Amino acid sequence: MEPIDWSNLSFGYIKTDYNVRCYFKNDAWGDIETSQSEYINLHMAATSLHYGQEAFEGLKAFRGKDGKIRIFRLEENAARLQSTCRGILMPELPTEKFREAVIKVVKLNERFVPPYESGASLYIRPLLIGTSAQVGVHPATEYLFMIFVTPVGPYFKGGFSTNPYVIIRQFDRSAPLGTGTYKVGGNYAASLRANKMAHDLGYSCEFYLDAKEKKYIDECGAANFFGIKDNTYITPQSTSILPSITNKSLMQLAQDMGMKVERRQIPEEELSTFEEAGACGTAAVISPIQRIDDLENNKSYVISKDGKPGPICTKLYNKLRAIQYGDEADPYGWVTVIE
Ligand code: PLP
Ligand code: COI
Repeated sequence: MEPIDWSNLSFGYIKTDYNVRCYFKNDAWGDIETSQSEYINLHMAATSLHYGQEAFEGLKAFRGKDGKIRIFRLEENAARLQSTCRGILMPELPTEKFREAVIKVVKLNERFVPPYESGASLYIRPLLIGTSAQVGVHPATEYLFMIFVTPVGPYFKGGFSTNPYVIIRQFDRSAPLGTGTYKVGGNYAASLRANKMAHDLGYSCEFYLDAKEKKYIDECGAANFFGIKDNTYITPQSTSILPSITNKSLMQLAQDMGMKVERRQIPEEELSTFEEAGACGTAAVISPIQRIDDLENNKSYVISKDGKPGPICTKLYNKLRAIQYGDEADPYGWVTVIE
């Protein structure tokens, strides 16, 4: 293999050695299989291709100073995948099966887990698709669950540094009673134009307002939002955003640091009152926000006056990373250490 420049990885796809697969047929999940192929053989009438019966997840493995590999909160990803399965009528993959598959694929690709010093990680991408043929709009009877892994660096430019974001009003990512709380590919298809628009305008990522009233902050295309003020961590309550495992973890860490935590609607104008704010997610980790522009309303909410990450974002980021890399204790059992 070509030597990998671990410290300069972007968030892209690099071929690794193996992926794992598990088939659902005759109402039962089979054994976990190993494959070296990057391809799948799929029926052209598969429900995943036509009716969006597709779910995915994203989690990471980290190599510690001790050389050990740690996987972050995999049970939470298993639970969210099960929730997505209920949401689009796919069979739920048991947590034990999910765990076995994640551990297996990480071990098989151990040489791709970036070294501790690089600050990079191994991104783990599980996906579940309807594979059997269906022409009417109905769920499939057969499914394929698979996981590939790929070493990654930061999702947003500059890693832990501030970036500008923009509210896009022309498009909604998901409806209030739609699929926004599920991790289905359709939500990301719905975000592509807004995301391109944001990038073309020079922003890191697009922000969505709630689709019904266009009044409250929902989330970004690939990360949740949080704001900090008066020693309080504030994050949106909404029926159309993905329940982020990173956000859930940060809420706990903020509370442990003696902060108040609020989950509630955040009106757009409140952005002007935050001392700090960030976008958070597995890929994004914490991406501190420099400012959020609302071009159609001719508004610019500048959050970081000096353009630097604020002290609370920095503290939360360092604490989260320390737990993930095994530098600090893991009081909540978030980490699975690979033996
Ligand atoms: N919101 C969206 C739309 C996402 O795609 C992601 C990424 O998974 C998140 C939020 C963050 O979720 P998590 O922290 O579980 O990765
Ligand atoms: C993640 O953070 O895992 C994501 O899914 C973000 C994006 C790459 C879709």
